[in-house]
Amino acid sequence: MRTLRDSHIVITGGTGALGSAVARALVEAGAHCHVPAIETSVPADRFPKDKVSVTTNIDLSDEAAVEGFYAKLPALHGVVNIAGGFAWAPIADSPLKVLQQQLSMNLVSCALSCRAAVANFRKAGQGGHIVNISARPALNPRQGANMTAYTASKAAVAAFTVALAEELKGENISLIALAPSTIDTPTNRKDMPKADHASWVKPTAIAELIVAHLGLSETINSGALIPVYGKA
Ligand SMILES: NC(=O)c1ccc[n+]([C@@H]2O[C@H](COP(=O)([O-])OP(=O)(O)OC[C@H]3O[C@@H](n4cnc5c(N)ncnc54)[C@H](OP(=O)(O)O)[C@@H]3O)[C@@H](O)[C@H]2O)c1
Repeated sequence: MRTLRDSHIVITGGTGALGSAVARALVEAGAHCHVPAIETSVPADRFPKDKVSVTTNIDLSDEAAVEGFYAKLPALHGVVNIAGGFAWAPIADSPLKVLQQQLSMNLVSCALSCRAAVANFRKAGQGGHIVNISARPALNPRQGANMTAYTASKAAVAAFTVALAEELKGENISLIALAPSTIDTPTNRKDMPKADHASWVKPTAIAELIVAHLGLSETINSGALIPVYGKA
């Protein structure tokens, strides 16, 4: 295993439920995290100041904003693309706006960040790791009823990951995508109070997996789509 001490890692969606768990785990592993946040302000006490740099006002679906964010970063060890969002929307409630919003939040944010990350890795000439976040229905679209736009956008994240991993073979740049089932977040608990919360995947457990992956010294599983279903 490679130590992550003093390595620089981008976490998109780093202010969200899973993202903040990943930021905490990476800080514990000694990494310096860079978090682009769409918000205009993030409370100063949210993360340890000397280990997490938050850049506000970055909409990851805006190409110029993403390029501008990456242009100021040092050589990166890895990028974890967590930014995204969900829409429960039966087809009658899925006009173009919903489809575009889901593609923008999930696919476009991930693709733009990957593109900028690859440019950073190539400049430093040391390779790097990218971990994207897809979702369970992307691997089994039969579970995507009433969330077709979400399912299609996360399936696109999975396909993008595999295709880009193939394109970058030989450059020591690895890409994988995790496909979690329901994550145990405050929002999900509020939205589904009667569900079996014990069967949901814990953000800290996913964070552990991501830290372990980022510590791999060789890019042996690039292109992998990894189910993260917990007990569900
Ligand atoms: N929660 C689940 O059960 C579950 C299951 C499978 C997969 N996933 C995926 O896992 C990831 C994390 O989920 P989560 O529950 O932690 O979600 P979350 O708490 O809502 O966090 C998502 C983060 O992404 C940010 N974001 C969204 N669009 C953005 C944009 N255009 N530019 C910059 N930032 C943007 C959000 O910022 P704002 O909050 O300021 O908008 C937020 O910080 C998502 O990709 C989600 O689709 C979640």
